[in-house]
Amino acid sequence: MNNFIVAVDGPAGSGKSTISKLVAEKYKLTYLDTGAMYRMVAFYSLEKGVNLDNPREVELMLENIKIDIEGDKFILNGVDVSNEIRTLRVTSIVSKTASIKAVREKLVELQREISNGKRVILDGRDIGTVVFPNAHLKVFLVASPEERAKRRLKEYEEKGIKSDYESVLDSIKERDRLDSTREESPLKKADDAIEVDTSFLSIEEVSDKISALIRERI
Ligand code: CDP
Repeated sequence: MNNFIVAVDGPAGSGKSTISKLVAEKYKLTYLDTGAMYRMVAFYSLEKGVNLDNPREVELMLENIKIDIEGDKFILNGVDVSNEIRTLRVTSIVSKTASIKAVREKLVELQREISNGKRVILDGRDIGTVVFPNAHLKVFLVASPEERAKRRLKEYEEKGIKSDYESVLDSIKERDRLDSTREESPLKKADDAIEVDTSFLSIEEVSDKISALIRERI
């Protein structure tokens, strides 16, 4: 079967990437983490001191950025930045970077190019609404901010990143606010997306639910 698209959207820490990876493996789908692409642009802007409020500087930045994805490695202009894009420094500015129209246009085009003719599961904020409005399956994952903060803190602890519950919760709430209220492709459930509240479900339970939905559509 050609071009089978699964769109997984939802806020930070709702379980998108964990679930998408599992489902990708199970059904031999290509997994595309679109958030990582926004993180790469945010990282580049920090490294080069780009003024994101200056459209000319943003335009130049986008001309100079080359993004390659090799398995789970994110390559920016030939350099593997997979770890660098997960730092708190990048997380704190990524929503601003992602609110810029020119940035979104470039990345959405790339996401469609990478997915062309493939069986793909993509996770993000606008996959079901903007990138693939005709996706075969759209899932919208939600969970309470407190539960999402707990999960994110656990991830940070596992990676040895120092943080605390209150600041993680604040950062998640602020990102929710910025991502949901921005003008360009705000985070929102597509009308035909299936909402799954993951607050009280295990990873396996969520993955089973989505697997059942995929089987209905294959
Ligand atoms: O993993 P986490 O939920 O923390 O975030 P992410 O998926 O890595 O996305 C980082 C940021 O990129 C989000 O907070 C959004 O501002 C932006 N993003 C977006 O605007 N559109 C997407 N399709 C994916 C991410």
